[in-house]
Amino acid sequence: MTRYFITFEGGEGSGKTTQIARLANHLRAEGQEVVTTREPGGSPGANALRHVILSGAAERLGVEVEAMLFAAARADHVDTLIRPALEAGKIVLCDRFHDSTRVYQFLDSDLDPGTMDALERAALGDLLPNLTIILDVPASIGVERARQRRSDHSPDRFEKEDEALHERRRQAFLKLAEDMPERCVVVDGTQDEETVAEEIGALVDDRLGAARLEALGQSLGAGKTGR
Ligand code: TYD
Repeated sequence: MTRYFITFEGGEGSGKTTQIARLANHLRAEGQEVVTTREPGGSPGANALRHVILSGAAERLGVEVEAMLFAAARADHVDTLIRPALEAGKIVLCDRFHDSTRVYQFLDSDLDPGTMDALERAALGDLLPNLTIILDVPASIGVERARQRRSDHSPDRFEKEDEALHERRRQAFLKLAEDMPERCVVVDGTQDEETVAEEIGALVDDRLGAARLEALGQSLGAGKTGR
């Protein structure tokens, strides 16, 4: 059993949902217990807030309140689903997490970075993803993919925004990866689906192997000092 928390980030139409499903299948075929989830949402309390946020109903309250709503939804999601699954030794795969708030709510806003840190502390406590996979596609491709995908529904609050803003968000995700290279890995999402899935599968197998070795080392170390 390997307790491990992986988040997927990236812009609209970057292929996160498809790749999460593929990674879950890959890990289950290896005998791992996997929970997949998404934000905003992932728990009954957070899903109630998802509707308020994505309908645009909260937009008029301003970006700070929106950021608080994302954090409130995240706190419920973490407490009721993510943390219990990790404590049960499962692997959790989450479609978007706190990096989305950093990029979508805090980029270009005049919000104090201290607010961001406080909201993160409130929602996450000491929890951080072990690995964040950033699926990178140019905004022009992502926006077009998202447009085709939603032919059956009207664009949500964020899908409506213009391509230049989506491209700035893309650059902000790349900057996060540059700043936190241990946790964040960028994968080229313009490659075909199979190639992306293979790349992610190999990366995660590698990281899980290293995490198991580290856990083994720790338990052996504890055994020694216990003697
Ligand atoms: P969703 O329909 O789940 O789309 P996607 O496939 O792009 O994840 O919509 C989630 C939207 O909410 C997406 O446009 C990004 C936005 N979002 C934020 O602005 N801040 C956040 O913290 C999160 C989790 C999502």
